[in-house]
Amino acid sequence: MMRVQDIYSKLMEEHKEVEKIMKEIDSTTERGVKTRENLFMELREHIVPHMKSEEKVLYPVLLEHKELKELTFEGFEEHDVAIGLLRQLDLTPKSSEKWHAKFSVFMENVLHHVDEEENQLFPKARKVVDGDVSKKLSESYEKEEERQKNSLIRRFERKVRAAV
Ligand SMILES: [Fe+2]
Ligand SMILES: [Fe+2]
Repeated sequence: MMRVQDIYSKLMEEHKEVEKIMKEIDSTTERGVKTRENLFMELREHIVPHMKSEEKVLYPVLLEHKELKELTFEGFEEHDVAIGLLRQLDLTPKSSEKWHAKFSVFMENVLHHVDEEENQLFPKARKVVDGDVSKKLSESYEKEEERQKNSLIRRFERKVRAAV
């Protein structure tokens, strides 16, 4: 039988990927606008479906446990801050000096959030939601993420069509 990952390992793998892309973006300059744009698009394709699927699949289950409530609500708020900053980054010209400053704030926020999930929320969640349940959640997460990725791509295509 195929080994199904628990949801926490799956999410932590994705965190690593996001961190890698953010580090690459962090080292781009105003002169490498095309690289910056491409990496930013790649980042968005990873991070947006990740956050939305966490919110749809994992967070509601965690909210059922009162000892996890506060950290989970904090997670929702940190996602909102990240989404807001992503929008600003999208609207700010990648060639401007401001862009990198905004990106640094965004990256700090995301790294803080990832640290809180991996070192506080997930270890506590594992104590109450583990084993077969966390494997089932992992499967639902993957399905939801696929759906989120497709809808992100469709939105992007509509934006491109509207621009030509
Ligand atoms: Fe996460
Ligand atoms: Fe998260």
